[in-house]
Amino acid sequence: METAELERRVGELGWFHSIDLGQGVVTPGLSDSAKLARRVALPADLSGQSVLDIGAWDGYYSFEAERRGASRVVAVDKHSWSTEDPESWGSQDGFLLAREALGSKVEDVHADVMDLSPELLGGSFDVVLLLGVLYHLRHPLLGLERVASVTRRQLILETLIDLRYLRRPAAAFYPGAEHLNVTNWWGFNRAGVIGLLRAVGFDEIRVVWPASGARRLGEWAYNAGNVVHSRFDRSRNSLPLSYIPTGRLVVHAFRSS
Ligand SMILES: C[S@@+](CC[C@H](N)C(=O)[O-])C[C@H]1O[C@@H](n2cnc3c(N)ncnc32)[C@H](O)[C@@H]1O
Repeated sequence: METAELERRVGELGWFHSIDLGQGVVTPGLSDSAKLARRVALPADLSGQSVLDIGAWDGYYSFEAERRGASRVVAVDKHSWSTEDPESWGSQDGFLLAREALGSKVEDVHADVMDLSPELLGGSFDVVLLLGVLYHLRHPLLGLERVASVTRRQLILETLIDLRYLRRPAAAFYPGAEHLNVTNWWGFNRAGVIGLLRAVGFDEIRVVWPASGARRLGEWAYNAGNVVHSRFDRSRNSLPLSYIPTGRLVVHAFRSS
């Protein structure tokens, strides 16, 4: 495709991901995809691995997995791809244009997380990406059971978290638009995410973001805020202003069987 033609077609679409399509053309995505790829610690070498990207949207991570040597990549999505869906968030046009421009062989499957199975996808996958999806699920434990059923070895999960400084497994429930918009249902805390993953059969779980140093700093800031709060404003039951309950979490979870 000529550069001018590619630029014209890119310009006609809205983009979630910033994808380098070559010829100096980068899609104007809302998300800083390369930065997030570093944060989720996408393996640098995926040679010979099969990769499933659930909630792929424009497909940045699918194309990146292919570029890093994956032998088979399947991208799955629902709301962002189906214009007939009353809950549609967009269309698949960005993914299709990027695939064409990159000459990619990434396969696409229109499916809900709840419907995933080895039968639907033609097998299970060495590496499964579930990035920015967990909190959109109405039934997260059921959804993760479906995800586990198609994961052969490693799940890379990135999610919103809430109730960050509760150590017990817990989740905030957003029955309406309590967290940003109506597509968000649950904000699990760190222990809650780890508990969910254990419950669906992952036996080794590594938190890769925030890194432990940043986590300790966050906890220190929270405790310091509480000290200031209790010394100077004993009459208030509310949490101190320094309390920021939401954040993001990345875990790598492994199945041994
Ligand atoms: C916040 S976006 C994240 C996109 C991409 N994974 C990333 O991290 O940049 C969430 C994506 O998950 C998809 N999604 C949400 N719920 C889903 C479900 N139940 N089944 C399939 N896809 C879903 C949405 O359509 C959307 O493309």
